[in-house]
Amino acid sequence: MVDLRCLDAKCGARYPSTDTRAQCASCGELLDVCYEWPAMDAAQQKQVWAERRMSRDPKDLSGVWRFREIIPFLSPEASVVTLREGNTPLLESPRAASYAGLEALSFKHQGFNPTGSFKDNGMTTGVSQAVALGKKVVVCVSTGNTSASLAAFAAYGGLRAVIFVPAGQIAMGKLAQALEYGALTIQVQANFDVTWKLVFHLVEEAGAYLLNSVNPFRVEGQKTIVVEMMEQLGWDPPDWIVLPGGNLGNSSAFGKGLREMYQLGLIRRLPRLAVIQAEGAAPLYRLIQRATAEQKPAGEIIFEPTPNPQTLATAIKIGSPASWKKALRELQATSGVCEQVSEQEIADAKAVIGQAGIGCEPASAATLAGTKKLVSHNVIRPSERVVAVLTGNVLKDPAYTMAYHQGTLAYPGSDGQEKQIQPRFANQPISVPPDAEQLKRLLAHASE
Ligand code: F0G
Repeated sequence: MVDLRCLDAKCGARYPSTDTRAQCASCGELLDVCYEWPAMDAAQQKQVWAERRMSRDPKDLSGVWRFREIIPFLSPEASVVTLREGNTPLLESPRAASYAGLEALSFKHQGFNPTGSFKDNGMTTGVSQAVALGKKVVVCVSTGNTSASLAAFAAYGGLRAVIFVPAGQIAMGKLAQALEYGALTIQVQANFDVTWKLVFHLVEEAGAYLLNSVNPFRVEGQKTIVVEMMEQLGWDPPDWIVLPGGNLGNSSAFGKGLREMYQLGLIRRLPRLAVIQAEGAAPLYRLIQRATAEQKPAGEIIFEPTPNPQTLATAIKIGSPASWKKALRELQATSGVCEQVSEQEIADAKAVIGQAGIGCEPASAATLAGTKKLVSHNVIRPSERVVAVLTGNVLKDPAYTMAYHQGTLAYPGSDGQEKQIQPRFANQPISVPPDAEQLKRLLAHASE
């Protein structure tokens, strides 16, 4: 049994799982996919999931559908649109651990996904639901990765993708992907928040299907990121899971996934979530700070969007996150925290992740920057087990990376003045004439 329920328990509205709405008709809050779970033998279930790794069935090859018993919203006969998403590695990094002040640190690298970001985990479920509903046109508003992912899964599943992106504010790799995968790409001359407000109401009327992370079926797929992570850790949860926060869909998905795994007996305790926002786009962080200052529960504080969000980590340049209430619920459920980091901290952390041979896009590096800050504030202890989630591939935003290493990376400060990023870990290319002696000297120098 599966249905959609309003996140506000006081409202309590329920809808069939075939409903296409993203918001509760009576109170306007977001919806959750809820299940009457059949009895699950946790040990046996883990065994089934492990054995599927030997199978060649496309559903078993997917790092999302392999765990289908924890996302049972489609009938078993339904076909799924899968590009072999998920299956992303957990990478130990002593270099990043010592940078953060931890004894050990691993990265769950979602940039290994088919379109290079964690969005693929949710897009396979969202697009499969669109197909099950008989939808032909799928839509999103995006800071880049959602649109790249939607474009790919829609094309693969034979649907038409229409994407709205803030003009000039998404990374080049992401825009190039959307074009290559054939999406109708509409660049709106406004930021993400303004574009979202405009488009949100138009989609249903047009008979199209909205696949932003307010879509509860996308959240279901994104849950499997933490399921796969727990399996990789032998079902022994870490103390902390650190992730970047933008529209806050992923934080919501992680919390839901963890709570459900706990409820089903798959894990014995809940890790704490740490959501990291960029200083210039940190409305959830501010809300929690205000609650602490006023000594009130965060749920009683009026949410204030950031009117003109600014960060070079364009993926998380969002001032009015659609899923903030869900994310807050998950922070409360997991005794989680929210931290903010500066542009310089993000840039430094990104370069360190690169130097470790791992690499990621700017928004993902907020996790290492945030972890370092939380360790320095004694929130995370050096001996605690931490998994930081790298949400996007290093190739997503080459312009940022090049500008950093060339020392030209700059951003508009809150006073309107341009602020320069210090390239503390820069690696500049060397240009030389085709002269054997010079090349020999350089090689000898590198080998010293
Ligand atoms: N990291 C990356 C690389 C992202 O692309 C995003 C969000 C986030 C983190 C934050 O995740 O929104 O669930 O809190 N990107 C969205 C997009 C907004 O349109 O691609 P979130």
